[in-house]
Amino acid sequence: MLLKIICIFLVTSGGCIILYSLVSFIKSLVNLKIQANEQKIFADWIYTASMVLILLFLLGYITVGIAYVAMPAATLSNLIVASILLLGSVFVCTMVITLKRMSAAISKKTAEIIKTLVNTIEAKDQYTQGHSVHVAGITELIYNHLPEKIKHKISRSVLTDAAILHDIGKIGIADNILNKPDKLTAEERKIIEQHPQIGKNILEHTSYQSIVEAIYCHHERIDGKGYFNIPSGKIPLEAKIIAIADTFSALCTDRVYRPKKTYDDAIRIIREAAGTQLDIELVDIFCSIPKKEFEDEGVISCCSQSGKTAIEETIFLKGT
Ligand SMILES: [Fe+2]
Ligand SMILES: [Fe+2]
Repeated sequence: MLLKIICIFLVTSGGCIILYSLVSFIKSLVNLKIQANEQKIFADWIYTASMVLILLFLLGYITVGIAYVAMPAATLSNLIVASILLLGSVFVCTMVITLKRMSAAISKKTAEIIKTLVNTIEAKDQYTQGHSVHVAGITELIYNHLPEKIKHKISRSVLTDAAILHDIGKIGIADNILNKPDKLTAEERKIIEQHPQIGKNILEHTSYQSIVEAIYCHHERIDGKGYFNIPSGKIPLEAKIIAIADTFSALCTDRVYRPKKTYDDAIRIIREAAGTQLDIELVDIFCSIPKKEFEDEGVISCCSQSGKTAIEETIFLKGT
């Protein structure tokens, strides 16, 4: 009887460890599927096969557990099998934890790479410090208010990565143009307008490929009169969202030739830009976000640095 109780204890403990490992593994797999879908490197059949194998494994383990509980008496060989099952489950658990740690380390490295790139942009463009983070914050706020029918068309991580790196192409613009305090000449403006193309070139052949089009199109307009005259139908949804955040960020920031706009004025200007520069439906969603949420996120208060350049936003905000 004692042998049977020990066997049941060993199998049940192993079962609990396996269950914990599998739940943890399934969670990681689901996350991986979401990320991999964005990168288009993870086929659906691999995901389905993994899930089926996991469920079969779990069913097998439960069957063994029931057999042990139902058996009249345990022998030494039953004890050995139960011990092997427990050791096996500990091994599986160790593997899952190790994989999770490795995955977390990779995610941390990825976040650090993004932070380094953002710091590099801001080191170049000294007068718009905090702009990338500011645009990413506004973009995230917009994403949280999108209706499900729009949300399911985009990926949150693609959107936020593209938002924080949208001006990465400024790295390739000469300092004397980027930081020019006076009005830009037509030629200099043409050079500045190349920054979405430079951003595309920088990221095109990297694992950030999925955000390239959003970055390339972040200065495009709904009426097709943006930097590269791309028609509305070909502008990615992510770029249309970032365009609103970028515009709002520019309006809420002091410039040498004008002070920053109040929140109400900025919202009014954004509304006026709907249908020509910005997407009407997205502007409606943006303008429906309560002011308090902008304040809570620090989105209004953090945008008070003094800018001294006459760069890009005048293209967006003619007459503002
Ligand atoms: Fe830009
Ligand atoms: Fe920008």
